[in-house]
Amino acid sequence: MDKTLQLQYQEFASVDALAAADRELMQAAIRATASAYAPYSHFHVGAALRLKDGSIVLGSNQENAAYPSGLCAERTAIFAASAQRPELRDYDALAIVGRNAEGALCEASPCGACRQVLLEYEQQQGHPLRVLCYLRGGAIRELPSVASLLPFSFVL
Ligand code: THU
Repeated sequence: MDKTLQLQYQEFASVDALAAADRELMQAAIRATASAYAPYSHFHVGAALRLKDGSIVLGSNQENAAYPSGLCAERTAIFAASAQRPELRDYDALAIVGRNAEGALCEASPCGACRQVLLEYEQQQGHPLRVLCYLRGGAIRELPSVASLLPFSFVL
């Protein structure tokens, strides 16, 4: 039997078109690109995570000469938030953006490993963690949940 999977998501024309709280989150992610340590890829990724009390935790990719030892911006952000403020482990939204070697903002979307990590926090909290991705040209894609990014996911 053939089955179809549908994904409903939103797109906004620019950062300015976002609701105030999401605009602030994406602007924080843009700022976070400045703390990336990416001497190997020269791809600077910024992430900003909104915690339960409305505060924001930033993350950026941290690379290493032993390549697999580095970490993406998304996991840096959520691991930092979870480790430092476990009582605020209830996340509304995560914003992500890239900055290329020329310094221009560019598209970023969570890698497979980050999706799996983000999904576990989403499942624990029992409500969606929205994902805002900066797109080429400055538009923003809003995914309604991490689960929507990782269908048929692994659960222990
Ligand atoms: N990277 C992220 O930080 N987040 C993503 O969503 C995609 C990739 C990082 C990992 C590595 O430091 C660099 O971008 C190039 O892959």
